[in-house]
Amino acid sequence: MALYYLSLAALLWLLPQSRGADVPPLPPRNETARVARFVAHSCDWGALATLSSHEPVRGLPFANVFSVSDGPLGQSSGVPYLYLTTLEISVQDLKVNPAASLTMSLAQTNYCKKQEYDPQSPLCAHIILSGTIQQVNDTEVDFAKLALFSRHPEMVTWPKDHGWFFAKLNITNIWVLDYFGGIKIVTPTEYYSAKP
Ligand SMILES: *[C@@H]1O[C@H](CO)[C@@H](O)[C@H](O)[C@H]1NC(C)=O
Ligand SMILES: *[C@@H]1O[C@H](CO)[C@@H](O)[C@H](O)[C@H]1NC(C)=O
Ligand SMILES: *[C@@H]1O[C@H](CO)[C@@H](O)[C@H](O)[C@H]1NC(C)=O
Repeated sequence: MALYYLSLAALLWLLPQSRGADVPPLPPRNETARVARFVAHSCDWGALATLSSHEPVRGLPFANVFSVSDGPLGQSSGVPYLYLTTLEISVQDLKVNPAASLTMSLAQTNYCKKQEYDPQSPLCAHIILSGTIQQVNDTEVDFAKLALFSRHPEMVTWPKDHGWFFAKLNITNIWVLDYFGGIKIVTPTEYYSAKP
């Protein structure tokens, strides 16, 4: 009986972890642009900070969770795509000011827990992307849809009358924390040309 409860407890402990995505091995940490691409592709969601357009925090930073995808698994583009509706509070901010910052961390995968890295440790690699959120054009919309719907199947069922549209972060600045010694800067050109 005791063994039964023990193994049940072990199973329950294991379950939430097995639900998370396992990531392939990290690129070498000194190849910062590759690490940035790796993090961007490994994460299914991020914290998006906008400048609030809502009282009582109008003009102040406002971070919120969004599902993202830079491509179907194994087809990384580096471009964080989002599926948005203007009914959403942060998207209302973006209509006033499209400037945004998107943070993604390997803490969102199984990696950091398995390695026993605290989310704030640079070893638990994380990136901060800054730029503007833009609606994607007709040429890009098919890839954006494939990128998001392949990794967020539930999106297909989101209410049709909410006016969903595909958007992306047009990245202008990139910061990477992947090792000790301070934050590193990667240019968008280095980022997009890196082999993920
Ligand atoms: C990363 O480190 C490895 C091993 O020290 C070295 O061979 C490689 O050239 C370095 N790459 C970069 C981009 O600095
Ligand atoms: C659509 O966006 C892509 C990516 O930004 C760009 O390369 C392409 O020229 C755009 N197409 C049109 C028709 O504006
Ligand atoms: C993306 O942002 C850059 C820098 O602000 C800007 O020059 C460029 O026109 C933007 N791209 C698009 C597709 O609007």
